[in-house]
Amino acid sequence: MTSCRVCNNSIEPFMTFGAMPIANGFLKEEEFEDEYFFEMEVAFCENCGSFQLVKQPDAKRMFHENYAFFSSLSKYMQLHFKAYAELVIDRVFTGRDDPFVVELGSNDGIMLSNFKEAGYRHLGIEPSENVADVARSHGIDTLSEFFNLELAERLVAEHGHADAVICANVMCHIPDINGVAAGMAKLLKKDGVLMFEDPYLGDMITKTSYDQIYDEHVFIFSATSVAWIFDKHGLELIDVLPQITHGGSMRYVLAHKGCHEVSANVAELLENEQVQGLHLAETYEQFKCNCETSRDALFNLLERLRNEGKRVVGYGATSKSTTVMNYSGIRPEHIEFISDTTPIKQGKFSPGVHIPVKPYEDFKKNPPDYALLFAWNHAAEIFENEQSFKANGGKWITFVPKVEVIE
Ligand code: SAH
Ligand code: TMP
Ligand code: ZN
Repeated sequence: MTSCRVCNNSIEPFMTFGAMPIANGFLKEEEFEDEYFFEMEVAFCENCGSFQLVKQPDAKRMFHENYAFFSSLSKYMQLHFKAYAELVIDRVFTGRDDPFVVELGSNDGIMLSNFKEAGYRHLGIEPSENVADVARSHGIDTLSEFFNLELAERLVAEHGHADAVICANVMCHIPDINGVAAGMAKLLKKDGVLMFEDPYLGDMITKTSYDQIYDEHVFIFSATSVAWIFDKHGLELIDVLPQITHGGSMRYVLAHKGCHEVSANVAELLENEQVQGLHLAETYEQFKCNCETSRDALFNLLERLRNEGKRVVGYGATSKSTTVMNYSGIRPEHIEFISDTTPIKQGKFSPGVHIPVKPYEDFKKNPPDYALLFAWNHAAEIFENEQSFKANGGKWITFVPKVEVIE
């Protein structure tokens, strides 16, 4: 028995993905022996609607001076965050005198660069020093600390309240969600707006995209769970905006209660979540079965291709792929290497399974028979770039929403 991270209700895990390493913990051969693993169990709290990891490794094991995820490597995500920033400027900043935006988990500055270029007062809170240094080198004001209530109080004292507090793919990383929500409420001006987006529970259930679950993602939110969390801290949902990024995300717009008009989108999505059964334990029992079906289909396909002597290469050494490979029992003999454009991952091995990660040039020089699309959330961008791979007889393997070979 354990207690819900949000409401303290007692919860039970409904499934385990087994022993998992740090998802972004790409490592060298000499580090194999000391690799850290934890049991990755998930639970759903029927009281507050939060989908969560039962255990999460200590934050410093995941976010540090060698953090491997650099946001700006995707051109599509650059455009996505430009549009996000424009929405904040248009919807929140219009008519305000010298508005101030704070972003949590600002990474290499992919979003804040847009505010900086437009001359707005901004501050990034980014604990992973190496990615924060990239932002700082571009003149983006960035503080390398973990956001919490205590930091929020200091920020208010030093900079005043924020007109907008924003983030993307960060809230779902933070285990002390009540501390962060309290800090956000503290930091936000009375008429300020909080916007954040994260992978959406409704999409994960529909698509069986279980690879959204890994050490960093301690929560997979729904509108129901977000409304519950922030209600306790005096904030209400005023809008919800579905996004296609990261395989299906939701952008939540919140404000101090009673200060802004509430869009009809909110009631509509809350209702849809009931219709989808996101509040029911049986939905998660079904999800578990769907995960097992997906896992077995992928393993069997890779076994068959190995027996046929086909060359399979992974495309994108994503954090999500750590869950897929470790859960599905994939071994180095199934996948020759994983191609990835991130220099810090190249020359290292994938967490847990230890498949070599090589530069994209290796894929280009010697294309395999099959490319296993780990970076499926970037499929549009990748398929556009890889037309010649397919034209020359290369085949794609995808596994969301189901395991499939694309000829
Ligand atoms: N916003 C970027 C980066 C997402 S990765 C994007 O969407 O691409 C998550 C980021 O959150 C990492 O850079 C990590 O260092 C940061 N992070 C983790 N815990 C945090 C905390 N408590 N406060 C602020 N940032 C945090
Ligand atoms: P993400 O799914 O967490 O955004 O990570 C994507 C990973 O895939 C990142 O390591 C970069 C890599 N990648 C490629 O190697 N080639 C590509 O074309 C794209 C879009 C990403
Ligand atoms: Zn709960």
